[in-house]
Amino acid sequence: MSINFNKAKEVAAKEALSFIQSNMIIGLGTGSTAKIFVDLLAKKFFLEKLDIKVLSTSKKTEIQAKKLGLPLTKIDKVSKIDIVIDGADEADPNLNLIKGGGGALLQEKIVAFNSDKMVVIIDDSKIVETLGKFPLPIEIVKFGYIKTKEKIKKLLYDLSYKDFSMNWRKKNNNYFTTDEKHYILDLSLKKIQNPDILNKKINYIPGVVETGLFIKVASIAIVGDDNGNCKIIKKEG
Ligand code: A5P
Repeated sequence: MSINFNKAKEVAAKEALSFIQSNMIIGLGTGSTAKIFVDLLAKKFFLEKLDIKVLSTSKKTEIQAKKLGLPLTKIDKVSKIDIVIDGADEADPNLNLIKGGGGALLQEKIVAFNSDKMVVIIDDSKIVETLGKFPLPIEIVKFGYIKTKEKIKKLLYDLSYKDFSMNWRKKNNNYFTTDEKHYILDLSLKKIQNPDILNKKINYIPGVVETGLFIKVASIAIVGDDNGNCKIIKKEG
């Protein structure tokens, strides 16, 4: 387990540069690890005079990329996205992920689903045998949000989750709202035995916009540690 998280994140972010080359359209993730990657990418872009375009998964990353002078485009302006480099809150050995700790899960998922390749950059504390220790973020529309929460609670009981808690994400005592002005309900489930089924069933409830479960989306994880090493995990199959 890493103590110096920044070192571990930096190592992973740096290694991700090896996946970048000219003529690529690159999705930029959100979060502290993705932020490091965007800084490094900007350096590489100017140093190597890369011919690339980037698109963001959040307003925050967009502002960062703009400040750094990276050539920004938008998802609906491109015919394909070659690669997205993004962080994660947890990754299991099959590279199923929990994302959304920073609240950007919706755009992150849309970009990831539309990318040829998703490379996840994480420190080694994020690798878990079973997802669920990190609270699972669910993005929910404001209309009927209490009812939506009740439906999710019922579903969790139906799926035999017993010892769980559900918390509306708050910021400065107000409801946290996403870039799309939705709320986030964080589900502390401890262990998610079947993330694929849970993802599908929660997404079936009206009012749910998206879950932070990324199932079979990532193809590669770069896992950094605080000794400055990193290992690559590839999705099987
Ligand atoms: C943003 O909404 C998240 O999905 C982040 O990618 C995730 O929380 C990882 O963030 P860190 O790199 O800051 O740990």
